[in-house]
Amino acid sequence: MSFQYIRTELVENLFTITINREDKMNALNATLLQEIKQAVNQAEKDAEVYGIIITGSGSKAFAAGADIAEFKDFNTVEGQKLSSDGHEVMNTVERCLKPVVAAVNGFALGGGCELAMACHIRIASPNAKFGQPEVNLGLIPGYGGTQRLIQLVGKGKAIELLTTADMINADEAHRLGLVNHIVDQEKLMETCRAMLNKIAGKSPQGISKTLECIQAFYDDTKNGMDTEIGFFGSCFGTSEFKEGTSAFLEKRKANYRN
Ligand code: COA
Repeated sequence: MSFQYIRTELVENLFTITINREDKMNALNATLLQEIKQAVNQAEKDAEVYGIIITGSGSKAFAAGADIAEFKDFNTVEGQKLSSDGHEVMNTVERCLKPVVAAVNGFALGGGCELAMACHIRIASPNAKFGQPEVNLGLIPGYGGTQRLIQLVGKGKAIELLTTADMINADEAHRLGLVNHIVDQEKLMETCRAMLNKIAGKSPQGISKTLECIQAFYDDTKNGMDTEIGFFGSCFGTSEFKEGTSAFLEKRKANYRN
């Protein structure tokens, strides 16, 4: 599959999606967002892929938001479509049954912050900056920012960030729980890969089910506790369960990837 605004590569079972509009601070236009959705869907289906990294090209920006130039003349109907299409993309990332890590290499603003928040784990370089500046533009976040920011940092801080449009640095984002780890920019990709490799050594169906249970917590149509009970039971019917328990009793490392 070839893309116009993103680069993708599969190296040692990890699939990297790089937003490739460095001259525009990796701003997310509509085509680019659809490309991210297609790439995540493709990677989720590909048995060779154990985990996904999303990052921005260059050293300044992960993504500085939705493309303001693209939507500046939109009417209300077009604005609503922009938002619902964006939600679909973010949901695709968040609901992916393989782990998705955001390697936040710079500005993650507006839609960029929303994309990072849709990922399962965020690892940032020290120059990363996070914010939802939409109220500066007469807008509000449109790709789930009003909802996911509350989930990650709590209501009080989310209200402050969403209404002041303040940008916060990586340290503050880490303190608030918006970022899992901060590492030097040159170590960013290898740290993300190490995290995904660690997860890749665990039971793949265990990881997918865990991600689905966590997702159920945020889904009004599902009961998270019941989801966990069902999935826990279904683990017992898998060869991975046999391998994991046998390996423990035989005092060896489980191998789930044969
Ligand atoms: N949409 C479209 N273009 C964007 C963009 C966005 N969200 N963010 C940056 N760009 C473009 C700029 O227009 C500029 O293009 P140009 O060179 O053709 O003029 C280029 O990227 C570089 O950005 P610039 O503003 O010159 O860089 P900077 O280092 O001075 O500032 C930011 C960086 C991220 C602070 C600044 O670009 C910014 O505030 N961007 C918008 C953030 C935002 O409001 N996002 C929410 C959108 S809903």
